[in-house]
Amino acid sequence: MFAKAALVALSFAAMVLGQQAGSVTAENHPKITVQQCSSGGSCTTQQREIVLDSNWRWLRNNKANQYNNCYTGNTWDSSLCSSPTTCAQNCALEGAEYQANYGITTSGNSLTLKFKTGTNVGSRVYLMDSATSYQMFNLNNQEFTFDVDMSQLPCGLNGALYFVQMDKDGGMSRFSGNKAGAKYGTGYCDAQCARDIKFINGEANVLDWAGASGDPNGGRGRYGTCCNEMDIWEANSMGTAYTPHVCGQGGGQVRCEGQGCASFEDRYNGICDKDGCDWNSFRMGDKNFIGRGKTVDTTKKMTVVTQFISSGGNLSEIKRFYVQNGRVIANAPSTFPSLSQYNSLTDQVCAAQKSLFGDVNDFADNGGMRAMGQGFQKGMVLAMSVWDDFEANMLWLDGEKYPLDKDPSQPGIARGECTLAQSTPEYVRANSPNAQVIFSNIKYGALNSTFSAK
Ligand SMILES: *[C@@H]1O[C@H](CO)[C@@H](O)[C@H](O)[C@H]1NC(C)=O
Ligand SMILES: *[C@@H]1O[C@H](CO)[C@@H](O)[C@H](O)[C@H]1NC(C)=O
Repeated sequence: MFAKAALVALSFAAMVLGQQAGSVTAENHPKITVQQCSSGGSCTTQQREIVLDSNWRWLRNNKANQYNNCYTGNTWDSSLCSSPTTCAQNCALEGAEYQANYGITTSGNSLTLKFKTGTNVGSRVYLMDSATSYQMFNLNNQEFTFDVDMSQLPCGLNGALYFVQMDKDGGMSRFSGNKAGAKYGTGYCDAQCARDIKFINGEANVLDWAGASGDPNGGRGRYGTCCNEMDIWEANSMGTAYTPHVCGQGGGQVRCEGQGCASFEDRYNGICDKDGCDWNSFRMGDKNFIGRGKTVDTTKKMTVVTQFISSGGNLSEIKRFYVQNGRVIANAPSTFPSLSQYNSLTDQVCAAQKSLFGDVNDFADNGGMRAMGQGFQKGMVLAMSVWDDFEANMLWLDGEKYPLDKDPSQPGIARGECTLAQSTPEYVRANSPNAQVIFSNIKYGALNSTFSAK
């Protein structure tokens, strides 16, 4: 429910071209196929490509024959980056060595994201429909399906597949300071109003920039970048959730500042709904439905189906099915008596769940399901990532209790079976260097067109 705030391992020798487009390393997007299906079940294969988010890239002095970094560790070079605009002019984003430096590989319809490669930690990529534009999805009255292998993802990690309402061109046409665009993975935003982003609206986020506590490679600036977010899948082999998050101000990408970004402690007064309305089967009371060796077995590859049901033109329900061993498995209903007639998300379920758990319904306050559907109408970008969590150690997803000072026998507090000790970034980086997630076989299209029992 807190989604991807943390991370940003600035890699190895970290040299990059600000928001100019670099010229030292060519940018070659890895290729991947996806399928679009129509009712009746016939599917068309589409050739696509993926791009690494700009935050991970070498950001270097943009002058000819200059190779010094604009950003090293979690610090900007003050001579190149004395102001947000000069920094955007002086620095350029370089092309990425996807496999060698970031552990990102594709093959056919499959994408592998390794957690650690050399000194790089985590990554985030977007699906593109051309070399310079993101593919925009409208999933209203559609479904989205993929296979995932997260057998190598332990407690504390998150292999995420989700949609965010970014600009199709990465913000290039709206912001003159952004010369790199989607080709270099610019324009990220999410419902946490990410403040660890180095360039927002074509300007460097250098004002008030400070290293994030504990994170040698990440920092936070004065500004954040907010937009609607549909988390189809936030998961590891111990915990899973799907979660819509909506934002006021229309839901598209906006830069926030101060209270608009909302601090962790004052999370309900910002632009976006940071908690979202999550369906986590374990948290909803069924502790045996999905996990290692459970009904849906996370030690083996599975197919995840998400349906977006509209009524009268408004998104009203988000349903989930799994397919494993040739069997279609409907999402398990909640085991709490007041929620036991439900196995999907609607505004009514969100309200009932938050009431039982004692959570604030910031999802409803920001427009609920209807606002999520409006985001899809405008078009949302597919993001896939692997990350660890300096803010909350991923315990909101898989922890035996979260918040830590609450009683796990109370509804909504137990999220999974992970302890704090095994979930910190320090622990997972030391103990799970070979962690990875594999996403494959992405299909989207008409309801019931992308999956069947074998
Ligand atoms: C969508 O929901 C809004 C608010 O509940 C309602 O006013 C509107 O009529 C709905 N749209 C349609 C097409 O039903
Ligand atoms: C999809 O399949 C389910 C279960 O078989 C059925 O209830 C539903 O009506 C179908 N939806 C569509 C749009 O065909």
